[in-house]
Amino acid sequence: MTKSAPRFPVLLPRSGDPAALDTIVACIPGFPLPTLGVNIDHIATLRQARRTTEPDPVAAAVLAELGGADGITVHLREDRRHIQERDLRLLRQTVATHLNLEMAATPAMVVIALEVRPDYVTLVPERREEVTTEGGLDVLSYAEPLGQAVRELQSQGIPVSLFVDPHPDQLAAAAATTARWIELHTGTYANAAHEADQVREIAVLQKGAAIAQQLGLRVNAGHGLTYRNVSAVAKIPGMEELNIGHSIISRAVLVGLERAVREMKALCSGTI
Ligand code: PXP
Repeated sequence: MTKSAPRFPVLLPRSGDPAALDTIVACIPGFPLPTLGVNIDHIATLRQARRTTEPDPVAAAVLAELGGADGITVHLREDRRHIQERDLRLLRQTVATHLNLEMAATPAMVVIALEVRPDYVTLVPERREEVTTEGGLDVLSYAEPLGQAVRELQSQGIPVSLFVDPHPDQLAAAAATTARWIELHTGTYANAAHEADQVREIAVLQKGAAIAQQLGLRVNAGHGLTYRNVSAVAKIPGMEELNIGHSIISRAVLVGLERAVREMKALCSGTI
């Protein structure tokens, strides 16, 4: 379904049914809207805190989809600190939208991705010491190994996205790998404490998205996005998908996952 942003305020259906919402939004001519990929790593983080079986990220994916998620994202890290291979394999069988696998560009991970066959792979930098992904890939310095992973995956029918900072040189290097997408790292924007800094960082992201599109890349974005800062990123022309985890799962702990996803989806769609 082609989705379009409303040019004027839209009355939401009283039921809050995301399917009905999609129908209304799709009827209004306007700009394409970003879809929402829900990152469920932190459901697994909670489970791994006790090394038990709950909460199950597979159940979380079902609820996220019921709330209107357009895709499910998981990061299978080398240290397996949250998502496990068992989760990935079950999610591949159960996710009804699309499955985005975030992973390091290592030969071992490429083998797993080729076996599990997610709908697309996002290559990310990975360091064991980091709490979360700390920045974009240095595609300029690691063009050869990254290019090889892109070629191996895409030649087997798995499209690849590269998580990068919005720097023109990195974007050009990303395009040279033949990756289909980039995911713009929004962490610097998300961490900006003052409005002037946020405005500057949004301009940087906008310029990065425009350059990437000129280079023939499709554009996603993510990292550090919240209910308060997502709208400006969602409005960047050509933005296709926003991958959001921590903020949604944090709200879900208090209000429930379906509702948390529905509220974030409405913000991505510009309907609230
Ligand atoms: N995109 C990428 C590439 C990431 O590594 C992460 C974190 O796993 C996210 C998006 C989601 O970030 P957050 O949890 O801050 O929303």
